[in-house]
Amino acid sequence: MDSNLVNLEDRLANVHDQPLIEFKHVEKKFRQMVAVRDFNLQIQNGEFFVLVGPSGSGKTTTLKMVNRLYEPTAGNIKFLGKNVTAYPINQLRWHMGYVLQKIALFPNLTVAENIALIPEMKGISKSEITSYSRELLERVQLAPDIYLKRMPAELSGGEAQRVGIVRALASKPPIMLMDEPFSALDPLSRTQLQDLILDLHHELKTTIIFVTHDMKEAMKLGDRIGVMHEGELLQTAKPVTLATDPVNDFVASFFKAKDVLTPLQYELNDVIADNDHIEYTATLPEKSVKFTPHENLNRVIEWMTQHQITVIYVFIKQTHNYAKVSTLDILNFIVHQY
Ligand SMILES: Nc1ncnc2c1ncn2[C@@H]1O[C@H](COP(=O)(O)OP(=O)(O)OP(=O)(O)O)[C@@H](O)[C@H]1O
Ligand SMILES: [Mg+2]
Repeated sequence: MDSNLVNLEDRLANVHDQPLIEFKHVEKKFRQMVAVRDFNLQIQNGEFFVLVGPSGSGKTTTLKMVNRLYEPTAGNIKFLGKNVTAYPINQLRWHMGYVLQKIALFPNLTVAENIALIPEMKGISKSEITSYSRELLERVQLAPDIYLKRMPAELSGGEAQRVGIVRALASKPPIMLMDEPFSALDPLSRTQLQDLILDLHHELKTTIIFVTHDMKEAMKLGDRIGVMHEGELLQTAKPVTLATDPVNDFVASFFKAKDVLTPLQYELNDVIADNDHIEYTATLPEKSVKFTPHENLNRVIEWMTQHQITVIYVFIKQTHNYAKVSTLDILNFIVHQY
């Protein structure tokens, strides 16, 4: 095995001072057409990074340059401080799980064999592979005793997708590249898999680059979100910052707080109950704005935006106090409801 990646685990443990993945002035042209232009980004070890943008904006192209399915036409991509081209390509890919919108399982292998393929190549023991495969299948609601011996042709589309995700996770790659992995699933499976990927991200500290069209999915999953438009990375920021401080009209319209955040069913009460950091005061400052706890959040946000007011006070009957609630408190609350 090439020495570059042999001590990858050790090196991953020591990357605090450098980005895990770094794009420097990356460009990708297909003939004359520029699909990605002057793309600059640093992704830290353990980060959950989400790329969003309309169809054709260059998200998939960007992702495919990380595991070298495409080569940049200018600039470079570094992994652990070295150009991705410096690593043997197969080993680079072993360390980067890749999940596509439509997963292709090997049709002549059982589910168990499909899942075991890469872990076996990595030299993980059979018993460990089996027990982790079973655990992961259970976590995506596929009973292992039934599904491990099935052939891909005997799975529904959603089941095949879940097996594909399990397969990508089975070797515990330090990096996952995920290209709209849940978009073909029904809403319930989708929520379950979002929760699973968040859990695994926290448990295993996996670094994830995740592509989606869906702003709500981006808000739920991302530590940071990058917004792409016509091959350019327009803004990279925390979810709440994108909603409150978009860099231009495109980001603002793509990410209109009002549309993305639909807190229809929530009241101010919910924001206060959910937040330990809310401040209380017995006396109101001058010119402050009061609301009742049962006020609908949608109306509150609309009103605050319209009047450009960032802080309101909510009267709490039980304690005769006022809770001080900011726009940021509300947005933070909504982001965490997805
Ligand atoms: N192999 C290719 N050959 C030629 N043009 C390509 C190729 N792959 C992508 N493109 C073009 O590059 C641009 C960006 O495509 P890309 O697939 O990266 O977009 P995307 O943001 O992933 O879109 P979607 O949300 O629809 O998946 C598009 O105009 C596309 O037509
Ligand atoms: Mg795409």
